Order: sequence, then C-alpha cells, then structure tokens
Amino acid sequence: MTVTGHARGATRTQPPGSPATVPAPASAFHGEATPWWRDAVIYQVYIRSFADGNGDGVGDLLGIRTRLPYLRALGVDAVWITPFYASPMADGGYDVAEHREVDPLFGTLGDAEALIAEAHRHGIRIIVDVVPNHTSAAHRWFREALDAAPRDAARDRYIFRTGRGAHGELPPNDWESVFGGPAWTRIAERPGEPGEWYLHLFDPAQPDLNWRHPEVRAEHEEILRFWLDRGVDGFRIDVAHGMIKADGLPDAGFTNQIQMLGSTVLPYFDQDEVHEIHRRWREILDEYPGERIAVAEAWAPSLERLAAYVRPDELHQAFNFHFLGTPWQRDELRAVIEDSLRTSALVGAPTTWVLSNHDIRRHVTRYGGGEEGLRRARAAALMMLALPGSAYLYQGEELGLEEVLDLPEELLQDPQRLRSEDGSSGRDGCRVPLPWGGSGSPYNFTPLNIANGWLPAPAHWREKTVEAQWDDAASTLGLYRKALKLRRDLAALGDGKLDWREDTEVLAGDVQHLLVFHRAPGFVCTVNVGTKPITIRRPGALELASVDLDEATPDGTVVLPPDSTAWWTDR
Ligand code: NOJ
Repeated sequence: MTVTGHARGATRTQPPGSPATVPAPASAFHGEATPWWRDAVIYQVYIRSFADGNGDGVGDLLGIRTRLPYLRALGVDAVWITPFYASPMADGGYDVAEHREVDPLFGTLGDAEALIAEAHRHGIRIIVDVVPNHTSAAHRWFREALDAAPRDAARDRYIFRTGRGAHGELPPNDWESVFGGPAWTRIAERPGEPGEWYLHLFDPAQPDLNWRHPEVRAEHEEILRFWLDRGVDGFRIDVAHGMIKADGLPDAGFTNQIQMLGSTVLPYFDQDEVHEIHRRWREILDEYPGERIAVAEAWAPSLERLAAYVRPDELHQAFNFHFLGTPWQRDELRAVIEDSLRTSALVGAPTTWVLSNHDIRRHVTRYGGGEEGLRRARAAALMMLALPGSAYLYQGEELGLEEVLDLPEELLQDPQRLRSEDGSSGRDGCRVPLPWGGSGSPYNFTPLNIANGWLPAPAHWREKTVEAQWDDAASTLGLYRKALKLRRDLAALGDGKLDWREDTEVLAGDVQHLLVFHRAPGFVCTVNVGTKPITIRRPGALELASVDLDEATPDGTVVLPPDSTAWWTDR
C-alpha cells in the first residue's frame, strides 16, 4: 500500500469557512477542572494576519470568528490570539495603551465577547495575550510620567534614571534593546532641555514598567480578572522573564547581549524575583472555575531555569524555545527532547513544544526552504505531535508556508527590522496574511477580496491556500488534520512518557540519522533525519507518514525515506 498523508479512512468534512454543519458542543470548560492543557494542541492566531472580517486589509476578531469552523475542523483544542487591545501599533499591538479596550482596528469589546462565547460553542478554548513588561508610550501612565518633573512619583511606575557622563549624556547603563541599539532613550524635560532616560528593552514606544511598584502589580491583577470574567481560558504572558530587573541596574558588561538570549543570565532577564509575580498570578487563575492557564514566553538560559516557570504553584506552560532552535540532526534532537522531558518532569509539568511563531522565521525556511525545507518541516511537525506534552502551532504552518523574504521594502513594518543595523529582514516575512482560497493575493484573506492584505502574499501561494489543500490528503494541511485526529484517537498520544527504541534493527542505511521512540500502548514513531533512505523492520501498522511510504514489502521491512517521520501502531 502506498500511503501519503492519510493512511486510513480519509473523510470529507464541510469546506473551510462555511458554517459548522456539525452541532458545536455546549461549553463545559468552566465546570469541573481537568488538566486539558497538559496535552492540548494550541493554535496561534497572529490577529493582523489570520482573517479580515471587515475588509480593511487587516485581520480582526470578526475574521477569527468566521474561521472558527476551520479551526474546529483542523482539530485544535485552543487558540492563542496575539494582542488586540488599544494600541498605536508601534509593535503590531505589543505596545498596549489600554488592556481593557479593544483597538478599533480589531473590533470591539462586544466582538471579543462574542468570539469567546462562539469559540466555546465550537469546543475551542481561547487564550489571550497579556503584555506586562512594558506599556505603550501612549499609555496614560507614561504620558503622566513625561508631564511630571524628574523624580516625581509619577515616574516611578516606569524606570527613569539620570544618565552617566558629566551632563548625563550617556545612557544609565550598557543594556541593549532586543530590537537593536541602546535600551534607553533620553527625554527632554522641556523643549531643548535634555533630561532623564527611560528604559525600554524593546522599542522606545514600549517603556518598561517598574514591577516593584505596587500599582503596577495591582493594575495587572485587575487586567487578568477583567478577561477571566469574560470567559477566557488563559493567558500567554509576553516577556514573562523580563518584569524584574537586577537591583541597581548593573551593566551586563558585554555587547551583542541579545545574541546571548537563552544561553546566559542577563541583568534584565530571568531574575529569580520574577517568580513571585507568577505565583501570585497562579493564585488568581486558580480562583476561577475550570482550569484557566498561563503560558510563559520566557527565554531562560537553560531548560532547568525554564522549568522553574512551570513549578506547581507557578505557570502551566512555558514555550520550549530550546527545541525550536535545535537543528535537524539526530543527536541534537534526541538530547533536547530528553532534557526537556527530564527537566519538566522534575517539577511535574508537561513540555510545551513549538516550531514557529510570529517572531521567528518559519520552520520550512529554517530547515533549508524549498522542497527540502518542506519535507523536513512536515517530518518535524509529525515528530513534535507524537511527543509527550502540549504543542503550539503557528498559523500557516499547517499549510506548509515558508517565510516571505522578498516583501517590498516600503511595506515592511516590524520595528525590529527598522532598528536593526545589519539590515536583517525582520519579522514581517512570517506575518504575511494567510491564504484562504482563490488564485491571487490576498487569497480571500478579506471578504470577497475587496482589499489588499496589509502585506502581499506571493503568487506561488495559489497552491498553498486552505481551499487548494483541504481535500488533498497528501497536502500539508491533510497531514496536520490527520495527525490531530490521531492524537485524539490514539490513547498513546498526548500526555505521558516515551521510551527510545535503541534496539531497532537497521537493515540498510545509517543508524546515525534514525530516531525511534515508543509510547504505550502500542505506538511507535520513526524519524529519518538523514538524506538517505534507512531500511528497518516494520514496527507495526502504518498510521500516518510525512512522505509517501511503501509499506507493502513482503519481507516485513520498510524503507524510511530521507527527512521523514512515520507513526505506527499495533492495532
Ligand atoms: C514578544 C512578542 O512575541 C514580540 O512580538 C514582541 O515584539 C515582544 N515580545 C515585545 O512585546
């Protein structure tokens, strides 16, 4: 039998985007608490680029609502939506001016409430972003701070300091912004009179808050309650490792600090005291019925330090960026998987796997791009979805989208690119509006294609649209749909453990490129990360493979093609 994508029983469901024909279950999410998040598949919606409901070329809450049937048919458990709050959009909404208001670009508070309720009716939980490390420079607190005199209490909610040098002309320390350049900007106290500096670990339009200030803490507790009261199922915490800065704001002592992110402790990231805040937030989440969760965007220098964020009295999940950054090589992959499982088990938490998000080059491109990149991306996704724990998918990865690297210069918006000195392309290339159908940009991203998307989509995405792939079991979308269905159907998948199968007999090919793990009951995942086929004894009945796989050999062997993952069971 030749198997592509679907191995068993391909079924046709309603076309994407049409109203659900299957009655959506009533929401029981906020009844009895269940640890649903331990193995949930959570789909990240980058709101500006997911679906446009009002025809202005920018994705919005209404757009998400109209595509809930798609998300339901895809088979995800929850959706994380990036910020949709009132914002001047200096960083695509991660510069929040008021967390309790919806920006008109994205809709209204009523739209948010309707989306939460309707998602629940579709059996999908909703996670929203919260951005506590900084506010927008347009936030009322920052405007008050600018209007106040140096050392006035109104400045204490942020991090204002006098500069170094004879006239305060040098930044207060050597900290660098994640987006490039110094992390400090000097203000004018009065026109022509340079004054204090304020800290911004990101864009100057994103001043860092002072988390030692009680009002800052109280305000954020209110914000959490505001959204919990509206029924959200959790929060993704932006820069969850950044709220506390080392006492006295000491120099880092070296340059190119951001390149060290995730491998060394910096005086402004991953400080021990930050965990106090997360413990308090956990208490708030636990006050609400059902399990409301928090997932940390935390860049910690080691998996051990990352695990500290998911101790039983802290957050539920933390993105595993160590996994995301691992090259497509057997020993490295095996080591990161083992270390991730070991360290999260120390604190009793599951691991949270992720391959792409709105800040990082899409993994098809990271793995080499073109056919090779796509082959590896499909294999990596299937491997990830077989690992114990929860997994996050970034919108468009289920379509096999690659990074768009040739966007017209004048359309680029990412502040990271605008501040970078090395001319790097920034993050716009992974934020191109999703192609839903049709034959040209914006590929039904807006209703009836009435406007251009805020970034144009490439011509070759014609073959990548949801519509083009929906009924094709061999497509990447077909692969993800089938994989998510099997994750629900097979008892072995989801939360739990894995055992490496060291004893797999290799009949031809290089064992150095083979990963095989078993999950009870009766499930085996094989991964060939090499460029040559590997022949092994067939480990069971084929359920799904990321490539064409010929299972029909009479001698009970199977050839695993290069860059491929396959799922096998004993059923
Ligand atoms: C992480 C977010 O994912 C990113 O998009 C944003 O630019 C920074 N935090 C600053 O909020």
